[in-house]
Amino acid sequence: MDLAAIATLFGARRPGHALPQGLYLDPNTLAFDMTAIFGESWLLAGFEAEVRAPGDYLSMMVGHWPILIVRGRDGEIRGFHNSCRHRGSVVCPPGNGSAARLTCPYHRWTYDLNGKLLAAGADAGRFRQGRSRAAADPSRDGRRGDVHLPVRDAA
Ligand code: FES
Repeated sequence: MDLAAIATLFGARRPGHALPQGLYLDPNTLAFDMTAIFGESWLLAGFEAEVRAPGDYLSMMVGHWPILIVRGRDGEIRGFHNSCRHRGSVVCPPGNGSAARLTCPYHRWTYDLNGKLLAAGADAGRFRQGRSRAAADPSRDGRRGDVHLPVRDAA
């Protein structure tokens, strides 16, 4: 990330004019934005009402990262990388849904709602039955029902 180049673009701003073109199109600027905004800030990811029951989930991209927010059987809301431990396929398609277990569509590896690997088909035994990487520990605002996600922990 070339911060000097980005600083130069900001330095080229002229009052009363649009931002310099590079601030919209430069790959360095995009990489900086992805890291500084989507990778380090608490972001509103959804609402508790969208994941009311155990197994309800929200699947989305946050910056470059596929993120999955799931209501567990214990009522807790957790955030995970939406990426299979096997070969990295997206486990749940974008959008919202509900599932008793999270099954990767590629080779059918299956995780519980806490991210623990339950079944790995023919590969069972070759992989630890550990948990998936937590993407984040979502924060909830009980009054408003907001779910916020610090994706920095996921990067
Ligand atoms: S990539 Fe998910 S089971 Fe193979």
